[in-house]
Amino acid sequence: MREIETIATRIETSAQEIFAMVRAAQRNGETVGLVPTMGALHKGHLSLVDRSVAECDKTVVSIFVNPTQFAPNEDLKSYPRALDRDVSLLQERGCWLVFAPAVEEVYRAGHDTTIDVGSVAKPWEGAARPTHFPGVATVVLKLFLMVPADRAYFGQKDYQQSLVVRQLVADLNVPIEIHVCPIVREPDGLAMSSRNAYLSAEERSQACLLWQSLKLAESLYIEGETDVATIKQAMVRLLGSIGDIRVDYIAFLGEGTVRPVETIAGPTIVAIAAHVGRTRLIDNHRIG
Ligand code: PAF
Repeated sequence: MREIETIATRIETSAQEIFAMVRAAQRNGETVGLVPTMGALHKGHLSLVDRSVAECDKTVVSIFVNPTQFAPNEDLKSYPRALDRDVSLLQERGCWLVFAPAVEEVYRAGHDTTIDVGSVAKPWEGAARPTHFPGVATVVLKLFLMVPADRAYFGQKDYQQSLVVRQLVADLNVPIEIHVCPIVREPDGLAMSSRNAYLSAEERSQACLLWQSLKLAESLYIEGETDVATIKQAMVRLLGSIGDIRVDYIAFLGEGTVRPVETIAGPTIVAIAAHVGRTRLIDNHRIG
């Protein structure tokens, strides 16, 4: 474990400046970790920062609410923004630089290139939000080029996103190591997400059913049930038992893939997307 330096976290908005600072640190023999975020930081993000601070000499956190990954009917305008609070949290964790560029710094006038990652980006989240992964892949590649870090840290909550990023990095020979870190949960099991802030008190109390349904899948499996249709039925019954939860999909996927399985025969990711009131939440859990 590295000791956390007490340093003043600097906010940088220029792509050229941050590139030069990262390269200078690397020329000095230091490793640089990048934690890409859209801000409104919670304990899930901070666990990625802690991991980077522990493993790299210097940590950069990018805070950029990326417009291209939101569809026109989605929550780009209302997405929570809290730069001052975020920076003071990052300062406490020993973050070196916050990269908080303006939209025009990332997408210059006339920007017209989109990254299409292919089959891993098409089902599940890709089907529900067809413009989402092209927007994510484009901005993640741009962040990797602007902040040429040695390692980048992502959360397992966005399971499919982590596969999209791995595919992008492998296909385009991007010289960065991708690390995917465990989901951080509230005491009642709800996965940490900036979008949890949208939930009313009643919706918040219902939202933990997502986690309960994932745990139910795990217990049924442990009791010997391997038939996915049977487990899914029980999950849907639980999710329909109270309140205003509308399931988008429940998917049982071979670990490391987006391919659905019908029988659990090895490590399997149970992924769920559901609307709780008007808020769309995702979560997943590894079983098998
Ligand atoms: O996971 C997120 O917060 C975003 O999708 C990311 C990776 C920062 C790209 O905007």
